[in-house]
Amino acid sequence: MCGIVGYVGHHQAYPLLLEGLKKLEYRGYDSAGVALYCRTNGLVITKSKGEIARLEEKIGTDIPTGQVGIGHTRWATHGAPSDENAHPHYACTEEFALVHNGIIENYMSLRRWLEGQGHRFSSQTDTEVLAHLVEHYYNGDLLLALREAVHRVEGSFALVVLSQRENNRLICARKDSPLVIGLGEGENFIASDMPAILSHTRRTYILEDNEMADVTPDSVVVYSLEGEIREKEVHEITWDAVQAEKGGYSHFMLKEIMEQPTALRETMRGRLLEQGREIDLAELNLALEEAADISKIYIVACGTAYHAGLVGKYSMERWLRIPVEVDLASEFRYRDPLLGEKTLVIVISQSGETADTLAALRLARSRGNPVLAITNVMGSSVAREADQVIYTWAGPEIAVASTKAYLTQLLTLYMLTLGLASKRGIEKARIQEAGQALYQLPGLVESVLAREEEIKDMARYVARWQSTFFIGRNLDHAVAMEGALKLKEISYIHAEAYASGELKHGTLALVVQGIPVIALATQSAVLDKSISNIKEVKTRGGYVICFLQDENQDLEAEVDRIFYLPATLDFIMPILTVVPLQLLAYHTAVERGCPVDKPRNLAKSVTVE
Ligand code: G6P
Repeated sequence: MCGIVGYVGHHQAYPLLLEGLKKLEYRGYDSAGVALYCRTNGLVITKSKGEIARLEEKIGTDIPTGQVGIGHTRWATHGAPSDENAHPHYACTEEFALVHNGIIENYMSLRRWLEGQGHRFSSQTDTEVLAHLVEHYYNGDLLLALREAVHRVEGSFALVVLSQRENNRLICARKDSPLVIGLGEGENFIASDMPAILSHTRRTYILEDNEMADVTPDSVVVYSLEGEIREKEVHEITWDAVQAEKGGYSHFMLKEIMEQPTALRETMRGRLLEQGREIDLAELNLALEEAADISKIYIVACGTAYHAGLVGKYSMERWLRIPVEVDLASEFRYRDPLLGEKTLVIVISQSGETADTLAALRLARSRGNPVLAITNVMGSSVAREADQVIYTWAGPEIAVASTKAYLTQLLTLYMLTLGLASKRGIEKARIQEAGQALYQLPGLVESVLAREEEIKDMARYVARWQSTFFIGRNLDHAVAMEGALKLKEISYIHAEAYASGELKHGTLALVVQGIPVIALATQSAVLDKSISNIKEVKTRGGYVICFLQDENQDLEAEVDRIFYLPATLDFIMPILTVVPLQLLAYHTAVERGCPVDKPRNLAKSVTVE
């Protein structure tokens, strides 16, 4: 989720690295750093907390010279944003510097092992173990050292290493995190994303998972992690610079929707083990007695995060059999909430900076209640002030309308529910079944995303209307609220979410001939009831677009459009159900010519009341 750039050639590396990093700043911006090989001083590593401008200030006029170097802009996952935790990381001798995107799951055990071998660590990151592993295995060949090192790690990585012992060479490797090599004349580039290199070359090798490359000014040799040479085809980039920032997509929102399978995989990494049979929330050091003792949970958040909380309520109440209240942070803080002694307060915030959510957190803490934060930004105010934190590893979200953050918030709430359930004596087999179903979700989300065209077609119809309804029962109601919010905020169409059973108490009066009604019917316990509500709408002329789990032939004749979602356990369906709703909002907004990524009057992070 961070940005990587590397250069080896005949030009001064520093300006090229800096230019590349600036193009990648949207990938992460809590700290940045560069390492260059300089003939007189060896490896020169400069890093700084904050945006790239802070790094430039720190370097000032003392610009490092050298024709080979690596740079990184960071989005913290392990270790708060700080100078020490910024990349590049180096080993004890400072002869090896390395930048990394991804997560090393087994870094704790590796770190202990390396410390036992005499290595001294200077950061709290997972990445630093890699630098020390390279140093440990170095025997005159950087390629072999990195190969040995990556075989010791579990997790995901895109990485580039530079050594002053072989100072005209960069070695890089990839697994589950993108990396491209830009091909030049007497120079070559490495980057995590195209924008970093596009102004210098359009000819690239795209590294596949489990590949590594040996990159010098005049050659690029790609190997498998086992050491076999791989023949690569040159891939010519046809995108322009603006498209490239968005990974070739026309908007950040679409890119982020498409990144959801990866975001889910990252968020479950190291937490859902053995394909979901084991759940390890090591970061949650809630003692068994404390977990068993909770008598009530309060979930507090704003916007999309609040909608995630509503889904969390259903699953927590079902699994834990304790009352869960969900409140909007702006309401919670001014209504003198009743917080009992054994009440756990969970705050959810993508940015970790939303003013109302932060105020709610402070209120809960001032009352002596433990606060657990679910946030996407390490080192954010919410993360710093909460008693405990679980991070969603969605990576930076740029579009104002939240998508991948929401999905990872849901996943985190599910993992938390199952984690608490295991501490409260719920039958292990049930938890395992649910964990395994969670583990399958990224693949199922991919299969829904592959059907974008079906949704586009629905969007063309919806785009013609000024008003729409989203209906559903139970969890489908919670998802309907998120679907309606997505549509309102980016397409400017009025969208109202309603509990299906409540329609007859007023809203049904607004159903007129042809009005789009998005009906969610994924919950088997209330399927018959949901179908009856759909028929009520249809009888009054509504244009029903229905999303449900199982192929239901009877319903096909009753509705106007139908979309069958892949089947999974009912309680985790929201992760699948919301995806076509995000796409529907997106394509409707595009159809209407709206500025998707920056809707009017809205901001990504609301740090004022
Ligand atoms: C803003 C954003 C929403 C977000 C909400 C809460 O309104 O536009 O997408 O859901 O803030 O933000 P948070 O960062 O606390 O999740």
